[in-house]
Amino acid sequence: MSEQLDRNRVIIFDTTLRDGEQSPGASMNLEQKLRVAEVLEELGVDVIEAGFPIASNGDFEAVNEIARRSRRAIVCGLARSSPGDILRAAEAVKPARRRRIHTFISTSPLHMKFKLRMEPEDVHQAVIDSVRLARNHADDVEWSPEDGSRTEHDFLCRCVESAIKAGATTINIPDTVGYAVPDEFAALIAMLFDRVPNVDKAVISVHCHNDLGLAVANSLAAVRVGARQVECTINGIGERAGNAALEEIVMALKTRHDALPFATGVKSEHITKCSRLVSAITGFAVQPNKAIVGANAFAHESGIHQDGVLKHTATYEIMTPESVGLQKSTLVLGKHSGRHAFKKKLEELGYTLGENEVNDAFQRFKDLADKKKEVFEEDIVALVDDEVRREHDRIRLVSLAIFCGTRGPKRAELELEVDGEVRATTATGDGPVDATFKAIKALVPHDSRLQLYQVSAVTGGTDAQAEATVRLEEQGRIANGQGADTDTLVASARAYVNALNKVLAKRERSSPAALSL
Ligand code: KIV
Ligand code: ZN
Repeated sequence: MSEQLDRNRVIIFDTTLRDGEQSPGASMNLEQKLRVAEVLEELGVDVIEAGFPIASNGDFEAVNEIARRSRRAIVCGLARSSPGDILRAAEAVKPARRRRIHTFISTSPLHMKFKLRMEPEDVHQAVIDSVRLARNHADDVEWSPEDGSRTEHDFLCRCVESAIKAGATTINIPDTVGYAVPDEFAALIAMLFDRVPNVDKAVISVHCHNDLGLAVANSLAAVRVGARQVECTINGIGERAGNAALEEIVMALKTRHDALPFATGVKSEHITKCSRLVSAITGFAVQPNKAIVGANAFAHESGIHQDGVLKHTATYEIMTPESVGLQKSTLVLGKHSGRHAFKKKLEELGYTLGENEVNDAFQRFKDLADKKKEVFEEDIVALVDDEVRREHDRIRLVSLAIFCGTRGPKRAELELEVDGEVRATTATGDGPVDATFKAIKALVPHDSRLQLYQVSAVTGGTDAQAEATVRLEEQGRIANGQGADTDTLVASARAYVNALNKVLAKRERSSPAALSL
């Protein structure tokens, strides 16, 4: 790589598995985190922040296993400034070929006074001690001043200089509360380049939250003045309004290379697959008009636009759908396709499943092909994601019959398997969905509140599969569930049961003693 190219290379630090996973309801199990890490490697991100190892044994295990399986990407574990946090992160990332410890402490007056209850001098000392300790365990150490964008400049410069002196190789400036605006944030980064004498000894990174919808704009403004690492997440998921969206950062740099002459190592053709996987696993549907990965991002509705695109795609398309890996809906398989062709298609779509999973998915594909004339790639993705979601479930849908329409009460006859035992009931409700959800509640009593219920079609046509999303809340814990089926009510029941399984998993994690249902 020429020196010029090197200087313009932006490191993509993906924090989907850490900050992304912190968004309410987005938690993933080990198997799901491993799948996301695998596609992030394929996508070509430089750093995978795999989790916060001290947070739980589950987090530790996930970071540790991702580190073990990593091939090219640097695997990073987050730690507060305490020795316990840092040692746990160090142990978690140890098996990685390339490992990083990311340690942070708040530096803004507000955070130091009310959150940490520490004097600035003690915070400054903690910066030095934590970075030194981390450096004893990894050559690659990142330090972040939490709430950096609201930190007093003199104190920020002093902490950054000391962190670099103590051995930090990356300094990450977070806009923790998403308060910054682009010019101001760029000026903050430029100020560090001007005033911190050893700034050239570290990579300057930015980590922007999206509370004002400015995370991507702030990150790009910082890159213009010298930041060379951007922290971001797939689909922009993350705390509150989320983090800067990886796909937007990457495609802005790629599409507007004339205005933003910087490069990343991301293979943008993998973006759509990554986005779909993260959405399927977290249950966070992507809004249709979301830039780059929304269902409408490349759809042209108005006649004038359609006409223009047909004459020359560049009239209304600034990037091609193919550049983000979006293929035209292709008819993939039919009812006569065999198991071999199905398995090959799964591989093309990026799934590496065990024999049992392939068998289960193939059986569902056969059932689907019986109901639906044409099976598209999107159908296979929905079906396999549905299978993967259910792998560790304690509650499973066995059967559902619905009686609805204009006459008589709406009734759901439901069978569920709960910890291996089949239970059955009948419930009535205001409508078929209400009756179904009441039947689930009768079979598995719980106090979770339904916060969201939504359904969308996976493809066009009246025989399309429905994909339902259900969000449940229990004692402040949120769980998103999804389900897919050609029958909207079956998809809805699957989504509710999926969310309920996540609620149970969360309950188990917070009080691990065996729970009977
Ligand atoms: O938003 C934030 O400040 C963070 C830090 C841990 C980097 O996520
Ligand atoms: Zn953050």
